[in-house]
Amino acid sequence: MDGADFLVVANRLPVDLDQLDDGTQRWRPSPGGLVSALEPFLRGRHGAWVGWPGRADMDLAPFEDKGLAIHPVKLSHAEVRDYYEGFSNATLWPLYHDVVVPPVFKKSWWDSYVAVNQRFADAAAAAAAKGATVWVQDYQLQLVPAMLREQRPDLRIGFFLHIPFPPVELFMQLPWRTELVRGLLGADVIGFQMPQGAQNFLWLAGRLLGLEPTKAAVRVRNRPGSVPFDGRQVRVGAFPISIDAAGFDELAQSPRTTDRAQQIRSDMGNPRRLLLGVDRLDYTKGIDVRLRALRELLASGRVDPESVAMVQLAIPSRERVGQYQAMRRSIEEQVGQLNGDFGRVGRPIVHYLHQSMDRDELVALYSAADVMVVTPLRDGMNLVCKEYVATRHGLDGALVLSEFAGAAAELAEGALLVNPHDLDGVADALEQALTMDPEQERKRMRTLHRQVMTHDVGLWARSFLDFLDPSAATATSAEAV
Ligand code: ADP
Ligand code: G6P
Repeated sequence: MDGADFLVVANRLPVDLDQLDDGTQRWRPSPGGLVSALEPFLRGRHGAWVGWPGRADMDLAPFEDKGLAIHPVKLSHAEVRDYYEGFSNATLWPLYHDVVVPPVFKKSWWDSYVAVNQRFADAAAAAAAKGATVWVQDYQLQLVPAMLREQRPDLRIGFFLHIPFPPVELFMQLPWRTELVRGLLGADVIGFQMPQGAQNFLWLAGRLLGLEPTKAAVRVRNRPGSVPFDGRQVRVGAFPISIDAAGFDELAQSPRTTDRAQQIRSDMGNPRRLLLGVDRLDYTKGIDVRLRALRELLASGRVDPESVAMVQLAIPSRERVGQYQAMRRSIEEQVGQLNGDFGRVGRPIVHYLHQSMDRDELVALYSAADVMVVTPLRDGMNLVCKEYVATRHGLDGALVLSEFAGAAAELAEGALLVNPHDLDGVADALEQALTMDPEQERKRMRTLHRQVMTHDVGLWARSFLDFLDPSAATATSAEAV
């Protein structure tokens, strides 16, 4: 049988089909941490990628993109509405992020989720060579492992969840909870970002399906738990995802980047301290939290408006989902108020950009910034904070990080950790970061930098594949990342 030996199956392809105003189309990089993390890994090993091109009703034949075999999956307009915007992003996304906004439960959305998962499973089954390794990604495709195993028992199937797996009492709200657990159990290895997620899943497998999971505590990377299911032993572990740290480090050190970073600061009137936020425009990211904390500092006179500026980069995301529209309006209002109250002509406090940015410019921004502010209410990992740290080869700069981002477990030592629900605490941490002396910065950043440089996306992929397919893990260390 022809086909790929190694496949990634994810809702999104690494490239998104964009329609320009003049009617022409072009491919551009897809948004989000999943693609940023997996793409460099997969391009390096000449794999195949099954996913949706980001527009409804596109009939596209498989094609090759820089060494990667791309297999587009078609979604109708109704499926984009019900499976993607509906069940994936208005049911599962809020439910898995600690119900930051209320999830909506709708049977018609669930039906669409089942149908689309089946289509992805069929596409993966058609694209995989005999005995291939298939790595299914994220919350949009939790039924695919079982659906794929049904058709292709010869495959090794892995699943990784990029977002948090919720506490059991929240998961139990889902009318289709047993179906999702059964769907995931079609995999040989199920990976979560944090041990707690793996632990929650093991408990649910016992409670909902009467299975007998292992009881020992799950530890990061090499100590997964397991659960016997259907004559197989399913491994359930914690594999914190990361970034192409060396790539970011190298790019940050290039003279082009350092020049551009200087230029950015000078274009902004050379503020004494530059704050930076970089996020998809999502209500889980706590963009409003940091804006409110900054307002508090300026209003109380603890920070002089002449001495700071902030860049908030917000990549457009899920723009047709109601809660995203409301949040965008509120953030843009807050930015307007901050600038209205504390800016002056030619010198706004917050430079707000609602657009995606290419890697070179993003790294220049990271290099230019003195304080990176990452304040999600809940985040599976958060790659942005790791990207910032990887660019600080000079060991200057400070990181303010929410304790509810998965990354906090790894970066607790050097970051200023905050509870995003405690506005005074966030304001205190911002002030501390803005006034930190260079020696303190250096000490903290050295710890952070070492952690990120030694725990990159290659380690993440190898540690997962070690359990799924040791030969693929070896190939990873030899060729890729
Ligand atoms: P999420 O996956 O929830 O979007 P992460 O922080 O894990 O959050 O990953 C976000 C990714 O998107 C990072 O790799 C970051 O560099 C990238 N990114 C964020 N904002 C932009 C932007 N405006 N333009 C381009 N890339 C961006
Ligand atoms: C997060 C999710 C990804 C998703 C990305 C962008 O990183 O974990 O699965 O692809 O956000 O969101 P979008 O809805 O645009 O694919």
